[in-house]
Amino acid sequence: MPIVEQPAQSLSADLEAILRCLSCGSKLESDQAAGFLCPACKRVYPNAQGIARFVDAQYYAASFGFQWHRYQKTQLDHDELRESERHFLAKTALRPEDLKGKLVLDVGCGMGRFAEVATRWGARVVGVDLSAAAEVAAKNLADRDFVAFQADVFALPFAPESFDVIYSIGVLHHTPDCEAAVKALDKYLKPGGLLVVWLYSGYNKWYRFSDFWRRYTHKMKPKTLHGILKVAVPFFYNLQQGLKRVPLVGRPAAGLVHHVFPVNRQKDPEARMLDTFDWYSPKYQSKHTYEQVFKWYEAMGMEDMRVGEISIAVRGRKPARR
Ligand SMILES: C[S@@+](CC[C@H](N)C(=O)[O-])C[C@H]1O[C@@H](n2cnc3c(N)ncnc32)[C@H](O)[C@@H]1O
Repeated sequence: MPIVEQPAQSLSADLEAILRCLSCGSKLESDQAAGFLCPACKRVYPNAQGIARFVDAQYYAASFGFQWHRYQKTQLDHDELRESERHFLAKTALRPEDLKGKLVLDVGCGMGRFAEVATRWGARVVGVDLSAAAEVAAKNLADRDFVAFQADVFALPFAPESFDVIYSIGVLHHTPDCEAAVKALDKYLKPGGLLVVWLYSGYNKWYRFSDFWRRYTHKMKPKTLHGILKVAVPFFYNLQQGLKRVPLVGRPAAGLVHHVFPVNRQKDPEARMLDTFDWYSPKYQSKHTYEQVFKWYEAMGMEDMRVGEISIAVRGRKPARR
C-alpha cells in the first residue's frame, strides 16, 4: 500500500550531534530539503517519504519492506491488546525502569511495534531498518519521541558510545552474518549500557521442513509469495483444524501436516498470514543457541548477563570502564 508523502522528521540538536558520515566519519549537518549533508566529503543522505536514507536500496530486505507496508498496524499494541509489550518483556528481560529517560536504539525496527512499547515506557528511541519499513515506523509513531532512519546494521550512521540501551528483536538472524551483526553493535553502546538481542532458537527441530521450502519461497517476488500464501495458509490451517476432530488418528495426522507444511497457527487470520509470510520470505534466517550467543557476548567483554523467557534472548551490560 503506497504511503502518502510525509514531511521530514524533525531531529533534536542532541540527536543530530550523534549522526556521522558513513564515508569519512564527520558530523552531519541537516538540510531540510536535501536530508543530511557531510560538510567534509559532501556526501548527501537524502530524505524520502519523510525519513533519511543511509542506504541506496533495501537489498535482501525487500520482502520486509513489502511485509511491513502490507501489515502496517497488525502487531501494534492498542488499548485492548498488549501482545507486543508481552513479547518485549519476554524477549528482552527489560523493564520500564531500564528504559525511562534513556536514549535507545531499536535495530531492525520494522513497523515500530517494539519502539511503540519503549516510547510508552518513557524512552527516546531511534529506529533503524534496512528496508522501507522505516517509513511505516516513522508514520506509526509520529506522535512519539521516535525517529527512524533507513540504515544497515553493518554501517550505522552514529558516533561511538551514543546509546544507553540497544535492542534488536528478531532481526540479526536475518542478516548474512549474525555473529558479526551482534558484535557490530557494541561500538555504539555507552559504557554501562545494555545490549539485548533476541534470535531464532536453534534448539527447535520443527524448523526443518520450512527451511526446505524457504529455499524456493525466498526467491519469489514478495507479491507472488503473498498471493500463494493467501490460498495455502487458510487451506493448511483449516485442514489441521478439521483433522483434529477425527477420532484417534486425527491429531497425529494434523501434527504430520503441520510438520511438513508449517503455517502459523494464531487465531487471528491476519496475524497468521503475516507471521507465515515473515517465515517463508527472508533470504537469510539463521538459528542460534545460548552457548553461541554467550560466547559472542563474552568476546565483547559484556557482563551481568541475563536470559529472557523466550529463547534465544540475551541481555548483557558493557562494563562501565574498560
Ligand atoms: C522479522 S522483522 C522484525 C521487525 C521488528 N523488530 C519486529 O519484531 O517487529 C526483521 C527486520 O529486520 C530488518 N533487517 C534485516 N537486515 C537488516 C540490516 N542489515 N540492518 C537493519 N535492519 C535489517 C528487516 O528489514 C526487517 O524489518
